[in-house]
Amino acid sequence: MVIKKVGVLTGGGDCPGLNSVLYGIMLKAFDAGIEVVGIERGWKGVLENLTIPLNIAEHDDLHTIGGTYIYTSRTNPFKAIHKLKSEEEKEEFRKNIAQELATKVKELGIDALITIGGDDTNGVSDVMYKYAKVNVVGCPKTIDNDLAGTEYTFGFWSGAQLASNAMDNLTTTARSHQRVFIVEIMGRDAGFLTMYSGLSTGADIILIPETPFDFKKDVVNVLKKRVNAGYKYHIIACSEGAYPRDESLKRDFKTITQETIDNLPKDVFGNPVLPALNIAQVLVKELNLREDIKEEFSKNGVVYECRSVVLGHTMRAGTPNAFDRILGLRYGLAAMNLVINEDFGKMVALKGNKIVPVPLTEGAQKKYIEKDSDLIELRNLMVKIRYKSKEK
Ligand code: F6P
Repeated sequence: MVIKKVGVLTGGGDCPGLNSVLYGIMLKAFDAGIEVVGIERGWKGVLENLTIPLNIAEHDDLHTIGGTYIYTSRTNPFKAIHKLKSEEEKEEFRKNIAQELATKVKELGIDALITIGGDDTNGVSDVMYKYAKVNVVGCPKTIDNDLAGTEYTFGFWSGAQLASNAMDNLTTTARSHQRVFIVEIMGRDAGFLTMYSGLSTGADIILIPETPFDFKKDVVNVLKKRVNAGYKYHIIACSEGAYPRDESLKRDFKTITQETIDNLPKDVFGNPVLPALNIAQVLVKELNLREDIKEEFSKNGVVYECRSVVLGHTMRAGTPNAFDRILGLRYGLAAMNLVINEDFGKMVALKGNKIVPVPLTEGAQKKYIEKDSDLIELRNLMVKIRYKSKEK
């Protein structure tokens, strides 16, 4: 089959580098004489036939611009599958929706589809390929970096840099007022953004979902030891999905209980959406109730004031950094090469410093910081050795 026209869509939350992928695709497509159309607003655009021409002559340096030129949405045509009980029903549902999407893609007049997104988007592409043989190639996107199959998703390093800059900057105000700052960092249930930005800025405590924390041991006692060692201000990098261990929740918390967590809004799998808890604010409230820390601070002549800052969407904002521009361009080029070679059902991925194809299924799976990772050892050392090395 000769590929004449390629459709491209961006799905899920936006992130820096989406336009870089688009530009990489457009460069190769122009050279190969292939027309590119953008499908607007992710899967919504496929269902509603929303397209826009992507003519490279009109988009010089698109790779340097943040966000996505072709818009995005969280529309997932397979969302309702989680309501079905039996595997037979689910299989039937997959077949039907995949077929419906394949028909829509055909109506758009495109020969192949490049989808740029996270595990949700890749999951849809994977089912379309498996159940309806749609010519599809995926690209791994998310600031969270929680996709299996690739070392890095584009957008991650831009987000990590923004969070690191924010915490670097917060130290001046934290120092001026002698405050404890708890900085809530995006990433859902994966701690990559918090870990990398926390280590990079030298945060004093780093709380991530992969290692549920003990409030007394990991927060209260560390703050006490730090103030005794002479520290007058503290930055706590805290994942939006970080949560206390069961025993700590029962023992140490006065403002939330297990019931609070159980009553949070649920995701499609029925799990509580932890970011809705606003854990940084919860920790501020809990810290304000602790007379023991107040005493320890006052004994050392230090003010005891806590503040929370939620970085939120500022972490996805602005231009991609150099790494994400290059990674995005490389992913775009590699995706077009797969299309030209008619090598479908794959996701482009970074392995070492090479861009390689992996099965789309891998891009539909999540990854987390491993418990035995050197990052965890580094975090534990950085937090502990600072106060230990200054203990009187
Ligand atoms: O998955 C990317 C991400 O930015 C998460 O880190 C965050 O929890 C979520 O998206 C926010 O989603 P929305 O933009 O829909 O509020």
